[in-house]
Amino acid sequence: MAIMVRQLLPVDWSVLRTIRLEALAISPDGFGSTYEEEKDRTEAEWRHVFERESIFAAFVDGCVGGIIALMPHQQQKYYHRGTIFSVYVSPTYRCQGIGGRLLDAVMLHAKSMGLLQIQLGVRCDNEAAIACYTKKGFVKIGHTPRSSFTNGAFHDEQTMMVFLDGFVSKSFYAP
Ligand SMILES: CC(C)(COP(=O)(O)OP(=O)(O)OC[C@H]1O[C@@H](n2cnc3c(N)ncnc32)[C@H](O)[C@@H]1OP(=O)(O)O)[C@@H](O)C(=O)NCCC(=O)NCCS
Repeated sequence: MAIMVRQLLPVDWSVLRTIRLEALAISPDGFGSTYEEEKDRTEAEWRHVFERESIFAAFVDGCVGGIIALMPHQQQKYYHRGTIFSVYVSPTYRCQGIGGRLLDAVMLHAKSMGLLQIQLGVRCDNEAAIACYTKKGFVKIGHTPRSSFTNGAFHDEQTMMVFLDGFVSKSFYAP
């Protein structure tokens, strides 16, 4: 199995569309958005995503099998911060280190952009994702009760953060 991770460019918009819609269809609990909300996006709308996000995809034997996105903050005071989202690996390829490789790639990219810290949000019952992020140094810094509402139930979300420059904070949230 040959795995390659690379940054997607606007010309790859249909690759983004394929893996993003797969993610929303197969793992709807992992994301804030829904398949219904994104399925009818036009080519221009998919290309527009690249204007604000850096997107990396994992290819397994040439086929796209995973994705991750990074969005740097847009306001000057927050230029040192970014947010990771849209993390997804196709079920067939899970637990083989691909999620970790996507995180490595995007964290390296974030550093090269001058970012110093990255945050993300993850549902508290998403053990696989929390384990994956923890392995890469992310620490829980917050908790949002009733963050989302799906299938008749509220779900809590935790915020996680990693410092890319070795900074150590004494005020990390203690769960
Ligand atoms: C979360 C996700 C991206 C992880 O991808 P992956 O390629 O399976 O992750 P990796 O193989 O790199 O695993 C990294 C670590 O996470 C942990 N992990 C992965 N799957 C796990 C599971 N089901 N249960 C517990 N721990 C798990 C392991 O500790 C693993 O470390 P190890 O290699 O030392 O065992 C994948 O499960 C996924 O796409 N889930 C659905 C979408 C989703 O929930 N995205 C996150 C939104 S916040």
